[in-house]
Amino acid sequence: GKGNHRHFMMKEIVEQPAVIGETLSSFFNPRSRTITLPDLPFDWKDLPKITIVACGTSFYAAMIAKYWFEKVADLSVEVDIASEFRYRNMPLREGGLAMFISQSGETADTLAALKYAKENGQHIGSIINVEESSMGRESDFVFHTQAGPEIGVASTKAFTCQLVTLACIAIDAGVQRGVIDHEEEARLCAAISEVPARAAEILESHVNIKNLAEKIFEANDILYIGRGTGYPVALEGALKLKELSYIHAEGYAAGELKHGPIALIDDTVPVIVVAPSDPYFEKTASNMQEVMARKARVIFLSDAAGIEQLGEHAVGSIELPSVDPFVAPILYALPVQLLAYYVAVLKGTDVDQPRNLAKSVTVE
Ligand code: M6R
Repeated sequence: GKGNHRHFMMKEIVEQPAVIGETLSSFFNPRSRTITLPDLPFDWKDLPKITIVACGTSFYAAMIAKYWFEKVADLSVEVDIASEFRYRNMPLREGGLAMFISQSGETADTLAALKYAKENGQHIGSIINVEESSMGRESDFVFHTQAGPEIGVASTKAFTCQLVTLACIAIDAGVQRGVIDHEEEARLCAAISEVPARAAEILESHVNIKNLAEKIFEANDILYIGRGTGYPVALEGALKLKELSYIHAEGYAAGELKHGPIALIDDTVPVIVVAPSDPYFEKTASNMQEVMARKARVIFLSDAAGIEQLGEHAVGSIELPSVDPFVAPILYALPVQLLAYYVAVLKGTDVDQPRNLAKSVTVE
């Protein structure tokens, strides 16, 4: 059931600290601050590159993972949406690794992409939330996220559990490949081990996010911008908002604004800025100033240091905990989920079962 909640989606959002912790406990040793993955049928050192394929929100998890693998494992990563990947006859070098991310394990396009990679000699790994699934049966190895059943059509807890799983895999790859030493592993592990507690803190700021929803729910178009892993978070925020509230929303890499979308900006288009304190902060901040100069109403997602620097210019800010930039995308996923949720509630749409959507897309 929904417990005390009006919607499954809210129940699933608030479960995140617990299920992220649960998912982490499968490969994470908090005492030694090390990660132990099950035995994998390949050596990370032998891989020239990896391919990650998924749809929708699971695809945004793949995009975030790309930044992680590149950074901590010095491994180039190709990501693609399954409906494109399955038909473009991509050349794959024998013995490569292809990973598939899916909450359900049943998404038709992702399953077809998996079969294509299998026929083309790839090691097949998947990250799946449902215990028994078609994709699981076709995979050489499976990481089961421990999010528990996700009923709301909008994916929330499955996404953040995919992310912590991918973060652990990337760190392990980095250690195996000799890119990071044990000290760096311990540092990253410490950052990850804090995620459940930081997520719980974020969930305490509901009321503020609900008030901000009132400032944007009447808009016809909303832009989300971010850089680095903040870019896929922006895409995810826009997807959540459009599927739940039916408001047109776009996620953009902040650096792309000038190449087109800034033409849309006026005082009717709110811009949600995803800007944790990380090496991209100043760049994103200057994009924020550019949209504000065109009268955009900005909602600013940052930590105390970021808000101190720029918060006063925004119509609203969501203050997030100061964390290692490596884990920021996991935590910044929560306020974008909550914002979409509260906007949808204000619009009176069917939060758990939005029009035209199915929980599991088993036809292409
Ligand atoms: O079960 P999957 O993770 O394979 O599903 C992929 C997408 O259909 C899914 O993430 C969809 O985009 C959600 N409605 C997003 O909230």
